[in-house]
Amino acid sequence: MKTHHKNSERLVTKVFQDVFDKYDLMNDLMSLGIHRLWKKNFINWLNPQKNTTLVDVASGTGDIAKLYLNKINYKGHVCCVDESKEMLNINREKLKGNINVKWFCSNAEKLPFKNNYFDYYTISFGIRNINNINNALKEAYRVLKPGGRFLCLEFAKVENEILNKLYKTYSKSIPQLGKFIVGKSGPYEYLINSIEKFYSQEKFFQQIKKQNFINVSYRNLSGGIVAIHSAWKV
Ligand SMILES: C[S@@+](CC[C@H](N)C(=O)[O-])C[C@H]1O[C@@H](n2cnc3c(N)ncnc32)[C@H](O)[C@@H]1O
Repeated sequence: MKTHHKNSERLVTKVFQDVFDKYDLMNDLMSLGIHRLWKKNFINWLNPQKNTTLVDVASGTGDIAKLYLNKINYKGHVCCVDESKEMLNINREKLKGNINVKWFCSNAEKLPFKNNYFDYYTISFGIRNINNINNALKEAYRVLKPGGRFLCLEFAKVENEILNKLYKTYSKSIPQLGKFIVGKSGPYEYLINSIEKFYSQEKFFQQIKKQNFINVSYRNLSGGIVAIHSAWKV
């Protein structure tokens, strides 16, 4: 992988413009609802405390922001960042009425926040879409307070060979499902390719370590279909 060129960045923007209104439905169908368990697991590992501040980058339709607010009993603040206006509009609609949420249409590589501001930085199924991942990691580090935590949920590499074969076969059916539900297979071909091209959990772990983060670690979920990466700012 490693760095997408400009055309691919435009492609990502177009992908989410094409699928935003069916994004939640497709997530449930493609993962057979399992993405909800992964996200719950993610928030449980984050274990956020009351009266804290989260920036949820590539926030999409707001699943992580919602889980965070539930976990802290709405005693804290979250800034949802996404470069897609369409995705952010759904996010806003789902979380409307909450005075503790703010929305920012912005790129993960250049966040509109001051240094040392947030207790937590989360990014769920977003990092592999970013043009320059190192820039995004640097921004994560910059906006976190000393002692703040970075947590990333992303597709990874399946470790068991048999499970991998089954998973690959299943993945091939996703574009057809997209064609049936959304009327387009292209965005889902992009999705499958972007998962294929993304780092293994071990390589991404090394990539995070190259920034200044400490206590970098990861956990596999569902045999490595996805992994959660955790790191701290000193
Ligand atoms: C697969 S969705 C994930 C949404 C949500 N976090 C979730 O877990 O369901 C990826 C999101 O990343 C956003 N995105 C892609 N590249 C981005 C970037 N460079 N900066 C900010 N958001 C980006 C897309 O617009 C999209 O909403």
